[in-house]
Amino acid sequence: MWVHTFFFVILLVVVSGARRDVASSDTVYTFPDEFKLGAATASYQIEGAWDENGKGPNIWDTLTHEHPDYVVDGATGDIADDSYHLYKEDVKILKELGAQVYRFSISWARVLPEGHDNIVNQDGIDYYNNLINELLANGIEPMVTMYHWDLPQALQDLGGWPNLVLAKYSENYARVLFKNFGDRVKLWLTFNEPLTFMDGYASEIGMAPSINTPGIGDYLAAHTVIHAHARIYHLYDQEFRAEQGGKVGISLNINWCEPATNSAEDRASCENYQQFNLGLYAHPIFTEEGDYPAVLKDRVSRNSADEGYTDSRLPQFTAEEVEYIRGTHDFLGINFYTALLGKSGVEGYEPSRYRDSGVILTQDAAWPISASSWLKVVPWGFRKELNWIKNEYNNPPVFITENGFSDYGGLNDTGRVHYYTEHLKEMLKAIHEDGVNVIGYTAWSLMDNFEWLRGYSEKFGIYAVDFEDPARPRIPKESAKVLAEIMNTRKIPERFRD
Ligand SMILES: *[C@@H]1O[C@H](CO)[C@@H](O)[C@H](O)[C@H]1NC(C)=O
Repeated sequence: MWVHTFFFVILLVVVSGARRDVASSDTVYTFPDEFKLGAATASYQIEGAWDENGKGPNIWDTLTHEHPDYVVDGATGDIADDSYHLYKEDVKILKELGAQVYRFSISWARVLPEGHDNIVNQDGIDYYNNLINELLANGIEPMVTMYHWDLPQALQDLGGWPNLVLAKYSENYARVLFKNFGDRVKLWLTFNEPLTFMDGYASEIGMAPSINTPGIGDYLAAHTVIHAHARIYHLYDQEFRAEQGGKVGISLNINWCEPATNSAEDRASCENYQQFNLGLYAHPIFTEEGDYPAVLKDRVSRNSADEGYTDSRLPQFTAEEVEYIRGTHDFLGINFYTALLGKSGVEGYEPSRYRDSGVILTQDAAWPISASSWLKVVPWGFRKELNWIKNEYNNPPVFITENGFSDYGGLNDTGRVHYYTEHLKEMLKAIHEDGVNVIGYTAWSLMDNFEWLRGYSEKFGIYAVDFEDPARPRIPKESAKVLAEIMNTRKIPERFRD
């Protein structure tokens, strides 16, 4: 009897072990039940109707109208995808895709034409109400970015993001959004990629508003944005959370930095890169200790002194501000596209953030290219970055708010299909094998659109849009069909598995 029991137990162990192997090999290609899949856009890149029905001008209207030479082909977002008139077409393709969630942004100047909350443009409120209601009627959850780079010109006239008073104005804008839309919108992002739009204050021919104050104006902009984010989070806690029950996060972009060699110096330079680019925003908000990363404070302060400044070019938080800001998150939005090689050293303009960071960045010539000079295809970097975030910020819920690939057009977009399937596989390994708490993913982008200074030349859409046709038809590319298959089966199809 004892012998029989012994062999029975062994048999059970062998059988259940084998079962577990089969299950886990399928599991690693399967999205967790609660995981949300969808696609993303941004107001200036798709809406058009730049001056219709009471909308005020913003800094991208100004840049594209006053400096057509800054933008490829002198393109503008005056019409773009005409989503202001065609939002029902957008919802139709989201439905066809099987999206559970649609991430879009609200144009501040469409809602508050002067930037301030004394004049609310009812037409703008109506537009977003119609979009939100159309999404919900089709079973798609709205995820709203409050600010995706289109600052009302009236606020830029006061100095824009380097002026700390914009933190208060941002809170007032957010109150209008929570009041009007918070009964139906439960996923909020305060800002999209402040790391990118702070560069609007760090170069003469760059992102709007193209003000050339590197190493000073960009840090001031970051400082205001962090204050603004914290104010909006506390506003939600104090006036809306109990009734509305949503979540508030921020979308931060980061590239993986792979040390160029295994030397301690190169590895340290990539840590500097993470702290100067992700930690700049995430450390004050997502760590227990709060405040800017020590390496950021130390390096900018030392460089500033060497350059003859009395004060550090990096503004400081008071102890009370550190307390007020830390912990102001329900989840972390991450935009991930590519990777870099990092080598220890100093280069770049003096002063500048790049010079302060103490890393020399290149890319590996062997990495596959896209249509965008900066975007090389490095899917394994995605998994490494997700693990870095897990370890640095105590494994917060992470929502991938952007990930995508650019080409020059065409419906059989095999490069984009490869990009999505490989990145989703790396993300699923991070979830199932590394225990990273990723809760959602919205592909960038739902459709071809105005790609900032690259105009319409670099295309990120999974749906093609004919910008010559006034009807702006949206046509699915091969990538949209593959993503629809993934969203509907909630698995990576067998033909794309390793
Ligand atoms: C797309 O292009 C690939 C590679 O050139 C080819 O193998 C495939 O058959 C094409 N698919 C369609 C739908 O045309």
